[in-house]
Amino acid sequence: MSDDKQLRMIIMGPPGAGKGTQAPAIQKKFNAAHLSTGDMLRAAVAAKTSYGVEAKKLMDAGELVPDEIVVGLIEENLKTNPLCQNGFILDGFPRNCAQAEKLDAMLKAMDKPLNSVIELVVDDKLLVDRICGRLIHPASGRSYHKVFNPPKVPMTDDITGEPLIQRSDDNEEALKKRLVAFHEQTAPVSNYYKKQGIWYGVDAAQSPEAVWDSINAIFNKTL
Ligand code: AP5
Repeated sequence: MSDDKQLRMIIMGPPGAGKGTQAPAIQKKFNAAHLSTGDMLRAAVAAKTSYGVEAKKLMDAGELVPDEIVVGLIEENLKTNPLCQNGFILDGFPRNCAQAEKLDAMLKAMDKPLNSVIELVVDDKLLVDRICGRLIHPASGRSYHKVFNPPKVPMTDDITGEPLIQRSDDNEEALKKRLVAFHEQTAPVSNYYKKQGIWYGVDAAQSPEAVWDSINAIFNKTL
């Protein structure tokens, strides 16, 4: 695949907007790397690494973890994940303008500029039901919803048959803080990329299938 046809994108949006729902389908379509800082941090929490222990307290409180941890995780993955040769989808990163600037510098050094930033735009009031009903397959990061996207067998992953869990930060109290962090720190990242002319908004209040169609329409324009 020539470099200008290679997917190098960010998927962004508030908690529950559908990033983790749409990103696996994008990953499959392009056979690119899906790099989710949230999934990486949860793996570090499960492995009880030193920064995993630090990150868990902040994540459960709905706060951001320090920039140096997530920037380091993304840099290491961009350099070592073999699927990045086919492109990448960054999910949950960057989450503030300092992270966006560090990412730009990293990608410039690799001569791999971004070609799209897709923001899933949705009103806060839809997000409580989505977050509080979400179920996760921890090993893959696959997400389901008790009502909107139920697994075939209750509390069981459709593909592996393994148990599903609820995330420890998926409660109304932590969600309020995650939304504050999003509006104060992550929303300015949209302007950062609008100025670069690579930002595209998608109405994420639509059904997951309609959101997927809107994302594909953007790929048809940009790749
Ligand atoms: P992270 O894991 O990135 O969580 P988040 O951004 O809060 O996003 P979510 O995973 O909650 O939502 P999503 O958009 O993926 O929703 P989903 O598709 O599952 O981050 C967690 C924490 O890690 C942060 O709070 C922070 O502490 C830390 N962190 C991570 N990255 C960081 C960084 N760069 N810097 C600093 N700290 C960082 O959908 C939600 C539910 O809705 C699902 O049940 C789904 O089935 C359902 N659903 C999806 N789409 C639809 C639809 N269209 N209609 C109806 N239901 C839908």
